[in-house]
Amino acid sequence: MDSIFKVAPSILSADFCNLQRDLELVSNSDFVHIDVMDYHFVPNLTIGEPVVERIVEVVNDINQKNKNGHVLFTDVHLMIENPDRWAENYAEMGVSSITFHYNATSAPIRLARRLRSLGVRASISLRPAESADGILDILDEFDMILVMTVEPGFGGQKFLENQMNKVSLLRCAIEKLESTKRPILQVDGGVSRKNVEMVAKAGANATVAGSAVYGAQNPREEVEIIRNLGSSAFAASWKR
Ligand code: DX5
Ligand code: ZN
Repeated sequence: MDSIFKVAPSILSADFCNLQRDLELVSNSDFVHIDVMDYHFVPNLTIGEPVVERIVEVVNDINQKNKNGHVLFTDVHLMIENPDRWAENYAEMGVSSITFHYNATSAPIRLARRLRSLGVRASISLRPAESADGILDILDEFDMILVMTVEPGFGGQKFLENQMNKVSLLRCAIEKLESTKRPILQVDGGVSRKNVEMVAKAGANATVAGSAVYGAQNPREEVEIIRNLGSSAFAASWKR
């Protein structure tokens, strides 16, 4: 996990009947982004525990076969009610990180600490209408902050540029932390090669990309293009 700017293909835009093939297709990326939806927190239903468990096995397999030492991580984006109750089940499967929503949890610090104690990275997400205020003082409790740049629920929606102020505000707060305590700042929704430089300049150092990657002629190459554009823009704007 050492590129300046990380790319997380969302398998929401993959072929659910050919998941192994579509995971192998993006083995050069940084995280596989797994969208779990429950028909309650968002008006859509995707996959749950048995499928995620199998995805973790397949990704472990990909990592073992990978000869150049590159490691593909798994991030489960829980768009579900009551993550306080369910997140632990995903942690036990050996996923690398779990992203839960700020307004779905009753105790974000408790949940993050519980996940970290299980060896899983903890990540918290804000919907477009939620300000960063509630988490500004507790950023060091998390390994990643996810700013939604669409209303969660569906792939292929239009990117919300009005979220960039929030990204910059969070980046400035993150930069004030000791370097070892700085969470990754990721955006999710409507990001492609056309606007990734904007999100990186605003301060994000990771992005989810669903339709942009899986809708491309060559998804593997698209991951590289988005990562390179993001890395240059981030490096130019935010010296480390
Ligand atoms: C939306 C999901 C996203 C989605 C992104 O609720 O959280 O991860 O798959 O897809 P694109 O990149 O197509 O907007
Ligand atoms: Zn997502």
